[in-house]
Amino acid sequence: MNKVTKGPQVSLYPLPVLLIGAMVDGKPNFMAAAWSSLADADPPMLTITIRRSRHTRDGIEPGGAFSVNIPSAAQVREVDFCGIESGSRTDKAERCGFTVFYGELETAPLIEQCPVNLECVVKHIIELGAHSLVVADIRQTHISEDCLTDDALDVTKVDPLVYLTSPKRRYARLGEVVGDAYTVGRGL
Ligand SMILES: Cc1cc2nc3c(=O)[nH]c(=O)nc-3n(C[C@H](O)[C@H](O)[C@H](O)COP(=O)(O)O)c2cc1C
Repeated sequence: MNKVTKGPQVSLYPLPVLLIGAMVDGKPNFMAAAWSSLADADPPMLTITIRRSRHTRDGIEPGGAFSVNIPSAAQVREVDFCGIESGSRTDKAERCGFTVFYGELETAPLIEQCPVNLECVVKHIIELGAHSLVVADIRQTHISEDCLTDDALDVTKVDPLVYLTSPKRRYARLGEVVGDAYTVGRGL
């Protein structure tokens, strides 16, 4: 197979589409985020990667709290708005009609309309180049009842968004299932 080299590009797919929530100047603010990942299972931890210029970044500090809200495809316009507008200029929660609630952590604003909400506490902040890598403990998980099957989270009911960056920056839904994990490879 012929290949072309493209230099050190940030090519890693698929990327999740999330809404990060934090309290900034005493007000809940939400931004779209795609550079995020799980980081540990025991204890449950995740990472977000946030440019230092973001208004949301001002509300994220060691020991502080933030939220990760997983939107569904039906919320694509609100997600994109939270990714192009800054909380420094606009009350995005109000413009998007988000119903904000709080769980155990009183400073991690959660979006009721998002089917899954994670409450997080900042453990480490590692300054990289333009971005801060934030490593956080996941303290609580809220799931909309209509996204459960047999009392467990059913991702297909969440209908999450995937962020595609190439050849064009777009949002997509999950594709078709192609095999059972930890199973389909056994025949080899
Ligand atoms: C789909 C999408 C994904 C994004 N992912 C990130 C990200 O992972 N990290 C980041 O710093 N900015 C990301 N952004 C940009 C911020 O969401 C955007 O700059 C936003 O306006 C910041 O809001 P704030 O100033 O209220 O914090 C993303 C934007 C979009 C549309």
